[in-house]
Amino acid sequence: MTQALIDTARRMVADHKGLLAMDESNPTCNKRFAQWGIPQNEETRRAYREMIVTTPGLGESISGAILYDETIRQKTEDGTSFVKALIDVGIIPGIKVDTGAKDMAGQPGEKITEGLDGLRERLAEYFQMGARFAKWRAVIAVGNGIPSRGCIEANANALARYAALCQEAGLVPVVEPEVLMAGDHTLERCCELTEEVLRTVFSQLYCQRVKLEGLILKPNMMLPGLSCPSQEAVDEVAEATVSCLMRAVPAAVPGIMFLSGGQSPELASARLNAMNVRFKSRLPWALAFSFARAIQQPALEIWRGKQANVPAAQRALDHRAKCNRAARRGEYTVAMESDQQETALRGVASLKHAGSFS
Ligand code: 13P
Repeated sequence: MTQALIDTARRMVADHKGLLAMDESNPTCNKRFAQWGIPQNEETRRAYREMIVTTPGLGESISGAILYDETIRQKTEDGTSFVKALIDVGIIPGIKVDTGAKDMAGQPGEKITEGLDGLRERLAEYFQMGARFAKWRAVIAVGNGIPSRGCIEANANALARYAALCQEAGLVPVVEPEVLMAGDHTLERCCELTEEVLRTVFSQLYCQRVKLEGLILKPNMMLPGLSCPSQEAVDEVAEATVSCLMRAVPAAVPGIMFLSGGQSPELASARLNAMNVRFKSRLPWALAFSFARAIQQPALEIWRGKQANVPAAQRALDHRAKCNRAARRGEYTVAMESDQQETALRGVASLKHAGSFS
């Protein structure tokens, strides 16, 4: 493996920074826009992403940004490509390369992520365009009798084949197996299932000769289902998450960068912070963030498609990025939120948006 892959993976977790996921597919981005009455078209999606990539100071907290096929080809109003705008402020461009989670044949209620056909060629093009890492998300639904072994194995195999192709192309794979929050399952069940999923994923990564030093894992935190009556406190979530990861994630992996999965922005920061406060000195890998909703949601609610709202939306985005960087240091406190208006309301609103990401 080239040293360049290892260096990229290390840069992604260096300096207490994390990833900003802005790789919503057009249907998902349109769905988010629809909730706030924002027009759903290519120009509005471009304007929204321009607001994000031109946020002043973003590179101080964000190491990499995950783009979508439409977004990586777009430019700011003044003609600068988003890729260049990011690189200019020290942010590594990345790209979502799966083509979505589709219904699995023979496994009702379960999904298999597609996108392997033609992937070698697509990766070569993205590398040419400046991307240095890629993302693929597998979704594991929890419910009565699911997930099945067939779903876990098929998704793990696809993740490993994608990761091998990425490394061949010089891109760091961000391997994302997401055990969903939807459902009434307990924290304990989330831990058991996530451990099984991660063990299967790492076994497949080994079979496909993926070099662990040159990949990033993007898992879910260990959480009870959204409708589970028992909702554990921040410290219990932190302990359950770290215990599970210690069992299932090899020490050679440079970084674990969590998805937010529909948690409120404040809770996602508090939970990441608790993990770093309590366990950081004993962990072999960096514990960081790769959030979409938990970074973007407050900014989207402020922006609402209006140019006049851009500065305030950018301040909200930068605030969440800073909170999460502080959480990596174990220095996040609720007091950091107090100067931000409507924080509590936002927490509630974000829980309502807990849906799927694609
Ligand atoms: P969320 O942080 O909104 O769950 O997004 C996950 C993701 O995969 C984005 O790339």
